[in-house]
Amino acid sequence: MESCSWRAVGVLVILLGCVTWSWGCGDETCPSAPDGFLNVHLIPHTHNDVGWLKTVDQYYYGGRNDIQHAGVQYILDSVIPQLLADPRRRFIYVESAFFWRWWKQQKASVQRDVAQLVQEGRLEFINGGWSMNDEAATHYSPIIDQMTLGLQFLQSTFGECGRPRVAWHIDPFGHSREQASLFAQMGYEGLFFGRLDYQDKENRQETKRMEMIWRGSDDLEAPSADLFTGVLPNGYDPPRGFCWDQLCADSPIMDDPTMEDYNVDAVLTTFLKVVDKQSQTYRTNHIVMTMGSDFQYENAIPWFKNMDKLIDLVNAKQVNGSKVNVIYSTPSCYLSALNRARLSWPMKMDDFFPYADGAHMFWTGYFTSRPAFKRYERLSNNFLQVCNQLEALTGPAAAHGPYGTSSSLVLRRAMGVAQHHDAVTGTAKQHVNDDYTLRLYRGWEACQVVISNALSSLTGTKENFVFCNLLNISVCPLTETAKSFNVLLYNPLGRNVTWNVRLPVCGVAYAVTGPSGEPVPSEIITVSKFTKDVRRHRGQAEQELLFQTRIPPLGFSRYTVQKVATQARFFMKEKTPTNPTKIENKYYRVEFHPETGLISEIRNLEKGISLPLTQSFYWYNASIGNADSSQTSGAYIFRPNRSEPVLIAPTVRSYLVQNSLVQEVHQNFSSWCSQVVRLYTEQRYVELEWTVGPIPIEDFWGKEVISRFDTKLQTDGVFYTDANGRQILQRRRNFRETWPFFQTEPVAGNYYPVNSRIYIKDKDIQLTVLTDRSQGGSSITDGSLELMVHRRLLFDDYRGVGEALLELGPHGKGIVVRGRQMLLLDTPEDSADLHRPLALQEYMAPQIILSPGEGVPYGSEQGSSTQFSALQAPLPKNVHLLTLALHQDNKVLLRLEHPFQGRESGNYSQPVTVNMKELIPFLSLSDFEETTLSANLPKSKMTRKHWRAKTAPALPRTNSSTVLDPSSVTLNPMEIRTFLATVHYRKRPRWDS
Ligand SMILES: *[C@@H]1O[C@H](CO)[C@@H](O)[C@H](O)[C@H]1NC(C)=O
Ligand SMILES: *[C@@H]1O[C@H](CO)[C@@H](O)[C@H](O)[C@H]1NC(C)=O
Ligand SMILES: [Zn+2]
Repeated sequence: MESCSWRAVGVLVILLGCVTWSWGCGDETCPSAPDGFLNVHLIPHTHNDVGWLKTVDQYYYGGRNDIQHAGVQYILDSVIPQLLADPRRRFIYVESAFFWRWWKQQKASVQRDVAQLVQEGRLEFINGGWSMNDEAATHYSPIIDQMTLGLQFLQSTFGECGRPRVAWHIDPFGHSREQASLFAQMGYEGLFFGRLDYQDKENRQETKRMEMIWRGSDDLEAPSADLFTGVLPNGYDPPRGFCWDQLCADSPIMDDPTMEDYNVDAVLTTFLKVVDKQSQTYRTNHIVMTMGSDFQYENAIPWFKNMDKLIDLVNAKQVNGSKVNVIYSTPSCYLSALNRARLSWPMKMDDFFPYADGAHMFWTGYFTSRPAFKRYERLSNNFLQVCNQLEALTGPAAAHGPYGTSSSLVLRRAMGVAQHHDAVTGTAKQHVNDDYTLRLYRGWEACQVVISNALSSLTGTKENFVFCNLLNISVCPLTETAKSFNVLLYNPLGRNVTWNVRLPVCGVAYAVTGPSGEPVPSEIITVSKFTKDVRRHRGQAEQELLFQTRIPPLGFSRYTVQKVATQARFFMKEKTPTNPTKIENKYYRVEFHPETGLISEIRNLEKGISLPLTQSFYWYNASIGNADSSQTSGAYIFRPNRSEPVLIAPTVRSYLVQNSLVQEVHQNFSSWCSQVVRLYTEQRYVELEWTVGPIPIEDFWGKEVISRFDTKLQTDGVFYTDANGRQILQRRRNFRETWPFFQTEPVAGNYYPVNSRIYIKDKDIQLTVLTDRSQGGSSITDGSLELMVHRRLLFDDYRGVGEALLELGPHGKGIVVRGRQMLLLDTPEDSADLHRPLALQEYMAPQIILSPGEGVPYGSEQGSSTQFSALQAPLPKNVHLLTLALHQDNKVLLRLEHPFQGRESGNYSQPVTVNMKELIPFLSLSDFEETTLSANLPKSKMTRKHWRAKTAPALPRTNSSTVLDPSSVTLNPMEIRTFLATVHYRKRPRWDS
């Protein structure tokens, strides 16, 4: 097997596995669960947050036990001997970020023992991603990457028996339909989770619909996106009274009748009552109990000792006719038992958002919490994709080069950690969030070396590459001071991109030259006061240099900038009229109300569509608890104290910036809220760049700031939001698809995750807003659409984090956050044609790499190159190169995605065929093999259990094991196809020799 090849330890383990216990880890190793009994599956487990109240490393080592007693290394140290001690016992482990740390530190003898337990199915990996990712604020690209990273580690370490069969999202705060679809495509047999709306849960218990088939997609051919999904009975905790961890206070089983505290009869009576009650809400003669919780099993003895006794005591009653059978089990053994029941299960089509655990407790605040980190996470994915691509394109030249030795793994792991359900969610303590940020930053540093090495090799020039990561606040020491510099743009998309570059400068006249030596028009713009207020002492630039660039697919263009004497070709002629009433380019016109200064109308000039529209900023007053409930608004929960938000400013002061490349209206809403409405010349959308903060709290009110668009569109309570940046879900105000919903929070209970876009429409017009990060959004009244951009809160919301979301910036005041919204106005039929490609370009934007421009020839014989594309030709709009990354030393991972849904575009919702062999002529690829989405199993070996659904016709299983022809790969709408190929690098870097 391929997976046997890359780590010494892995080889040893797999040899053991293949020879002695080959395939011993599947359903065959499950404990017998006899018919005619009610089988109780005890699932010993621990839930290990990859950072929350403590950092991931503190959790691993058991540091800072003053904050929370938790040490993951001791959990694994303690569980393994307890498993070895008794072959009946089982344990599951979930988070690869922790297991990877632990495994590296073990002696060979421990590694052998662990491998044996894995081969025998006694230690089973479940889920297996680097972390247990959040489902609301996460984007599909890093979700797929973090799952791939964790599963690749398990595969290379343990082989097929280390491949998790079941997805286990016991703690994420609501569940996304796209996540279900992705899990199904990764080959998972089923999903179990703990958190869902309390009304939904009651309803499902009453109607025995706790277990179901979840159809993850309307577009992919069934059952490829269908996933058996089970709601666990008690979150992920044990039944009340049966927590036998040292962190718990429940009585152990005291079974010596001569002792005073003998309690066996009482324990059994209580247990059988729990069993009876639980069995009434589930459909088969199997029920599941999660025996564990957060960071439990640091001392595994109390748990296993008491469960051993419980099993023996309950089962002993069978001789007297008891029909209850208790077993040690795992999620996959429980799932097989359900599968064998051959029932027809209810079908679920929508998602599990939003999550509420009480009438005034909607977990919709975390959709927005820590907006700056949410943006950094999204940008880090962008940077990682660039890093992955360049690493795959140049191989050894990226790993070792003039800038040192490095790899993408540091950022991959940091991104895996950042997907955790307390990381990108913004629900960790401040010091932990700082650690997440630092980890990403370390990843950026490593990738900067990879990218610099790769670019030296590709450009044939060794330059002093500079990464200016504060361009959003006009800070870049190089461009502020240099008389000349190079601007290299790398485009990770498979299509040409036109990109506006904006750099802080201190001069007023510059000459820009393109890749072929052609002069490029440029403009100088004064740095706005808003920007200066945010950057403070960090930069000096008074001006920004703006020019338009064109970059080929999967490649780069290099521009050079030269400061010139003012009188030569340029002079400052900026005029800044106040209270402008309109801006327009070829595609859009934006009108502003002459009195209020707010946007009053948007017109799509190409289509001749116009929409009167008002956009402004408001804040909800965060609840501090009231007579209905003491629930406060906090990091997790959004609870405004009344439904009407406060308007920040009825009128704004504004001024116009206008030149040949851009038109901007700068609107000042208040000392802590401003916006630039922008149209670049060739931009087919309206850009709104908002700057919000420090949110004032001197009035002792927490504030949740929204940007709201009000129109007269007849929307009948309906709006649309995306799931993880991919499929679109229809939302209906005060409504849930699968149960009669009683609304108790008219605003917070209508908020949904907006990962990349939200829209409203009538039959003629669609207004779409794309975002640059995850936010919460809704349509609270017809024709209206709102996005929460920032929040600052004075109280904790009692969900464990124990801190108020106060987020300080560098000067001890609240953090200032800047972001962009992209507005599209079009017909409902044509909207996807623009918002799909635009959203891809937003998360895979070109990377700007600067250099002073005194490079020396390097490596390549052909001399230096100023333009490059690794692709044979630009890809069509309905093909997205989702992944191009080094997977192992000589394997490249490729994912091709059809980014359109089935019926949303007349032009692009069609199957499309790609010749993979000729796609990237720059790389010599061979031995293409199609795999599951997570690349840990050949597609041809993927067999998933068959399930019957009540409401959908039973479909014959599609047999997709036809021989792969890499010269003709067809993608259907929403399909992602994943391939591994062997790569041969042509050139080795010359400096190496
Ligand atoms: C089975 O029933 C008999 C008679 O009541 C009793 O003596 C015995 O203890 C019972 N066994 C168990 C395991 O409960
Ligand atoms: C893409 O760029 C190439 C090279 O710059 C150019 O020849 C081609 O026309 C461009 N295609 C599009 C669609 O802009
Ligand atoms: Zn958790």
